[in-house]
Amino acid sequence: MAGDRKWALITGATGGLGRAFAVALATRGYNLVLTARKADALEEMAAELSLAHPIEVAVEAADFADPNACLRLKETIGARGIAIDTLVINAGYGVQGRFAGRPRDEALGMVDVNVRALTDLAHVFAGEMADRGGGHILLVASTAAFQPIPGYAVYAASKAYVLSFGHALHRELRRRGVVVTVTCPGPTETPFWDRAGHRLNRMASAVLMTPEVVVEASLKALYAGRPSVVPGFANKLITLSTRFLPRSLLAWGASYFMSNAK
Ligand SMILES: NC(=O)c1ccc[n+]([C@@H]2O[C@H](COP(=O)([O-])OP(=O)(O)OC[C@H]3O[C@@H](n4cnc5c(N)ncnc54)[C@H](OP(=O)(O)O)[C@@H]3O)[C@@H](O)[C@H]2O)c1
Repeated sequence: MAGDRKWALITGATGGLGRAFAVALATRGYNLVLTARKADALEEMAAELSLAHPIEVAVEAADFADPNACLRLKETIGARGIAIDTLVINAGYGVQGRFAGRPRDEALGMVDVNVRALTDLAHVFAGEMADRGGGHILLVASTAAFQPIPGYAVYAASKAYVLSFGHALHRELRRRGVVVTVTCPGPTETPFWDRAGHRLNRMASAVLMTPEVVVEASLKALYAGRPSVVPGFANKLITLSTRFLPRSLLAWGASYFMSNAK
């Protein structure tokens, strides 16, 4: 019965990875709360998912560039009497371009969504989960977290924050029954790249993964209680190499890997 099922909240649910998280968690029998900015797309997804699975799906449109959005979301969910077991903080974006030549609002907007809202959401739900003695929080970082990336300076730094933050939370919360896992996908086939204004070159295309494979690896790590996961063998190798190389060399290599196709 839908009423007895656990609830999962997915941010950025209308996007490539968010949609795949929603389908994977619906298939596992979770009731869902879906959030993103586009209310129409969320309603459409909710209708599709509740038709295909015996679950309840709630929709809450929110813009995480708004500093009050996370608290409002928590209050609305609480007012509905929903306790979140699995929180997937997935909403985020990157824009390609040289930092000094791009608008100030764009840089600060990435920090707002990728860092501030992620921290705020983790904070509003982690306390409640710890008091209940159980819960799961999945933070979506990126392989960009492992090195500086010229052309994606703010984005890569924001994901480095997510990786560090998530590992610390994992240790703080595990004794209180809450699992925090950071997933670090490499290039994945989603609308992310259109918004970033980026055409992947041959090197990056060679390691491109589907959202479904990334999501399965991420959820497997989350429910196994691991602190982090890098989906895909090639991505694992690439991130492993960052442990042995100086940052200046990594930044140079990353600028080639993340350059546009000619
Ligand atoms: N694709 C990749 O190669 C890749 C690799 C590593 C990590 N990631 C990370 O994976 C996550 C999901 O990205 P994706 O690839 O699925 O990209 P995507 O298809 O562009 O999805 C991004 C999602 O975030 C939501 N979003 C963006 N700005 C928002 C805001 N201000 N407030 C609320 N929601 C907002 C979007 O919904 P609305 O537009 O409806 O708001 C959308 O649902 C991101 O954190 C990204 O950094 C992606």
